[in-house]
Amino acid sequence: YAITVDPTAKGTKIDDTMYGVFFEDINRAADGGLYAELVQNRSFEYSTADNRSYTPLTSWAVTGTGKTVDDDGRLNARNRTYLDLGADSSVTNSGYNTGITVESGKTYDFSVWARVDQRAHLTVSLADTDGSLAEARRITVRGGWAKYTARFTASRSSSTGRLTVATDGAAALDMVSLFPRDTFKGRKNGLRKDLAEKIAALDPGFVRFPGGCLVNTGSMQDYSEASNWERKRSYQWKDTIGPVEQRATNANFWGYNQSYGLGYYEYFQFSEDVGAMPLPVVPALVTGCGQNRATDDDALLKRHIQDTLDLIEFANGPVTSEWGGKRARMGHPKPFHLTHIGVGNEENLPNEFFARFKQFRAAIEAEYPDITVVSNSGPDDAGSTFDTAWKLNRENNVDMVDEHYYNTPSWFLQNNDRYDSYDRNGPKVFLGEYASWGNAFKNALSEAAFMTGLERNADIVKLASYAPLLANEDYVQWSPDMIWFNNHASWGSANYEMQKLFMNNVGDRVVPSQATGTPSVTAPITGAVGLSTWATAAAYDDVLVTSADGQTLLSDDFSGDASKWTHTGKGSWSIQDGQYVQTDVAAENTMVSAGDPAWHDYDLKVKATKKSGK
Ligand code: AHR
Repeated sequence: YAITVDPTAKGTKIDDTMYGVFFEDINRAADGGLYAELVQNRSFEYSTADNRSYTPLTSWAVTGTGKTVDDDGRLNARNRTYLDLGADSSVTNSGYNTGITVESGKTYDFSVWARVDQRAHLTVSLADTDGSLAEARRITVRGGWAKYTARFTASRSSSTGRLTVATDGAAALDMVSLFPRDTFKGRKNGLRKDLAEKIAALDPGFVRFPGGCLVNTGSMQDYSEASNWERKRSYQWKDTIGPVEQRATNANFWGYNQSYGLGYYEYFQFSEDVGAMPLPVVPALVTGCGQNRATDDDALLKRHIQDTLDLIEFANGPVTSEWGGKRARMGHPKPFHLTHIGVGNEENLPNEFFARFKQFRAAIEAEYPDITVVSNSGPDDAGSTFDTAWKLNRENNVDMVDEHYYNTPSWFLQNNDRYDSYDRNGPKVFLGEYASWGNAFKNALSEAAFMTGLERNADIVKLASYAPLLANEDYVQWSPDMIWFNNHASWGSANYEMQKLFMNNVGDRVVPSQATGTPSVTAPITGAVGLSTWATAAAYDDVLVTSADGQTLLSDDFSGDASKWTHTGKGSWSIQDGQYVQTDVAAENTMVSAGDPAWHDYDLKVKATKKSGK
């Protein structure tokens, strides 16, 4: 075999921003993850609207008398519920996963908002089953709502800690918080250091945030102030800034509560801290992600468009502007230098999407002609409207299109030339989400091979980010993921190491090369077969998996062995009457896979019939 290169030839230029990261609050990536807060449900706002298993006392245990209350005595209109703790009573928080994690010798900032009729003394302690983890603190509380603070230094390490607040007199409590002092870059209300450092070590050129499906689901709902506590609203960036005790918590698309402690200010700050271009995505009022709906509510659309303009002002506006002033008051008078903004995520109704996208783009370009408005194509998978969306993107002279795909390692190997034929006069590509199905070495290798194709086409592929970025090992909704963590540790996958290699070694130009005698790929590549459905209820039967040469690798009519099939994500599945059936109709996003790797070979073809009428 021979590879011929011409080092004098000036090949395609690769931008420094080519590779970035995509952060979405999925797999509990934010609260209990990247956001360093150690107290779970600190504001007693968990609700069944977020998750059927939640109550306002989730992760709390009261000893003595105490109940959560939602009445006029609340902390503020956006932080509805508080704890009414009786005299000589206490409340204990169990943190996330195994408990509160502290490291010997490190400092932790405790804070609480409290209100008492006259005076009470709070005793705050940190302990695990082996005993105390720090010297207890005593705080005297007087009068109406006020914030009280204390500092702990951990006397030993633990990841099963509990935080207890005891009172001698009746007291109302809210926003009970414990934060490590040692956050990434020492930021207040900051990020968990090991996770943020792992992301920073990738040297990302951009940070896409906050989603994903998280962005556009619920975007058709009213989001009046009242909807803040009725949990009807969608992800709205304005809910995520300002003092944390005034950020109304909300249901997350992925089925849990989001505190918004990690909000837009923190995303911009983090992007700046890692030297990356911030790339927020706003909802376009057309949702994909298994829902495929659009709204004709013109007033709501106008409000979202105005919110997007306000977001740009928040990022870049002068301190004298309304939203630039809010940024300055949060501690960042200088602009965040926003240059790109994504409108919509994975819309699978291209005509409806474009009708709205054009209005966003016109409004943004009228005020901010230098901002690149990124459109999208929906996901490139079976049943998507990818080609139609691309046609419309071209016809509408879109600058850049966000495209997504998740597929087998063999697909990634076979599609190295995907962008060789993309129209050089058409929109540029932002590959906002991609991954091969797995965290094994072979997955990383197939992605690496694919990325050489991205670089060869760096004149058209301008930005690319693997997805998802983070997964809490106890709450996996989507797998594979790039970085995994639990309470006390984090580790990069093989895919992470490979991304790190590429991202830290972005060349200036691709040197043209020619290979002769390139071997054909014959080695078997094994992995899970993925059937994915966004449907709210679904059933599969007659699954057929064949190899490239037509050999049957798996044929299953689901007449018997349920143990052959596994699923990750939400929802329950069972085998009923020869069908693999999703029985939890409320569930969305379920990945189904046949778990025996021996079934799979290079170039799989999977045919699954979705039962009609379900
Ligand atoms: O990355 C996980 C999900 O995959 C994203 O939320 C969505 O955009 C895509 O379907």
